[in-house]
Amino acid sequence: MKVIVTGGAGFIGSAVVRHMINNTTHKVLNIDKLTYAGNLESLGSIENSTRYHFSHTDICDRSALDKIFFEFQPDAIMHLAAESHVDRSITGSATFIETNIIGTYQLLEVTRHYWNQLDIDKKQVFRFHHISTDEVYGDLDDTNDLFLETTPYAPSSPYSASKASSDHLVRAWHRTYGLPIVLTNCSNNYGPFHFPEKLIPLVILNALAGKALPVYGNGAQIRDWLYVEDHARALYQVLTEAKVGETYNIGGHNEQKNIDVVKAICRLLEELAPNKPQGVKNYEDLICYVADRPGHDLRYAIDASKIKQDLGWIPQESFETGLRKTVAWYLANQEWVQHIQSGEYQNWIQQQYDSTTD
Ligand code: NAD
Ligand code: TYD
Repeated sequence: MKVIVTGGAGFIGSAVVRHMINNTTHKVLNIDKLTYAGNLESLGSIENSTRYHFSHTDICDRSALDKIFFEFQPDAIMHLAAESHVDRSITGSATFIETNIIGTYQLLEVTRHYWNQLDIDKKQVFRFHHISTDEVYGDLDDTNDLFLETTPYAPSSPYSASKASSDHLVRAWHRTYGLPIVLTNCSNNYGPFHFPEKLIPLVILNALAGKALPVYGNGAQIRDWLYVEDHARALYQVLTEAKVGETYNIGGHNEQKNIDVVKAICRLLEELAPNKPQGVKNYEDLICYVADRPGHDLRYAIDASKIKQDLGWIPQESFETGLRKTVAWYLANQEWVQHIQSGEYQNWIQQQYDSTTD
C-alpha cells in the first residue's frame, strides 16, 4: 500500500509512521506543516528508509494537496494533522478552526476528487481514516459511565468542538458521496516524543528542572490513559481490517486522577533520577495547585469493547509499564527535549502558567 499520513511529525502521527515503516512493507508519505508541535527528529529512526517520504505542506492548501495526491497515488489516508492542545484552543481558537475544520474539509474534497477517478478495484479498497478524540463526547459524571461509539456528541472546549465538527464532515462525505471512511475516537495518549505542553511530559521535565508541577483546580479530574504505541497498532488495524463507515473507540481501561498521575511520576523519578535539582528534597514537594482550566471536563473513560470484539485489539502496556518506559525515555533523550524547548515553547509556558497560578 501507499499511505498518506497527515501530521506524521507530531506525537501520535510519528508513532504511526514508525509503526508502518518498521512493521509493514508499505510506502508512507508524511504531510506536515511543521507547526510548533511537529518535529522531524521524532522520525530520525526511520527517515533513511526508501519507503518513507516527507512533504512540508499545510492541509489547508488545496492545490498543493491535489498535486501530492496525483503524484503519490495513495491507497489510503490516515488523517492526524490537527491543533491538539485544549489550553491553546482556549487562548487562541482561530488555528483550531482553520486546521481542524477547514483543513479536514480541504483534505476531504481533494480525496473525493482523487477517489472518484480511481478504477473500480482501487476505489473499493481505498480508505480515508479520520483520527479523532474521545473529547467530542464531552465529559462523564463521577460514575461508572463509559463513552460508547453511540454516545451523543457534547464537546466542551474549542479544541473538542473543532474535532467534533471534523468528525461530522467526515461522516457526511461518506453518507453523501460514498467516500470510504473509517473513524476512531481515542482517549488521552502518553509516551515518547510527547510535546511537553501536555500533562505527563510537562510534569516529568518540570520536576527534572526543579520547577513547580502545576495541577489545575483540585487535581480530581480523571483521564483514561493509553500508551501511544498501543494507539498506533490500533489505528493500523482499523485502517486495514475495519469495515467501511465504522467508528471505533480506542482506550486503555486506565482511568487515573490527574493528581495521582503527577504523584506516580514523582515516585518514578525518585527511583530513576535520584540526583535531584538543588534545593529539591522530594519531587512531590514541587506539586502546586493552580487556577482551574475554564470549562474543564471532569472525567473521560472509554468503552473499548467494540474494537476488542471486532478486531481483537487490546493494549499491550499497563499504565505502570507505560509510564515507567515514558519517564525512562525522557531521561535518556535529553537532546530531543532540548531541541524542542525553543523560544516559542518558553513563550507558551510563561503565558500559560503566569496567568493560571493562583
Ligand atoms: P500533535 O499536536 O503532537 O501533532 C499534530 C501534528 O499536526 C504536528 O506535527 C503539526 O505540525 C501537524 N499540523 C498541525 N497543523 C497542520 C496543518 N495545517 N497542516 C499540516 N500539518 C499540520 O498532535 P497529536 O497528539 O499527535 O494528535 C494527533 C491526532 O490525534 C489529532 O488529530 C488529535 O486530535 C488526535 N488525538 C490526540 C490524542 C492525544 O492524547 N494526544 C488523543 C486522541 C486523539
Ligand atoms: P492534557 O495533557 O492537556 O490533555 P487533555 O486536556 O486533552 O485531557 O491534560 C490532561 C489533564 O491534566 C487535564 O485534566 C488537564 C490537566 N492538566 C493539569 O492539571 N496541569 C497542566 O499543567 C496541564 C497541561 C494539564
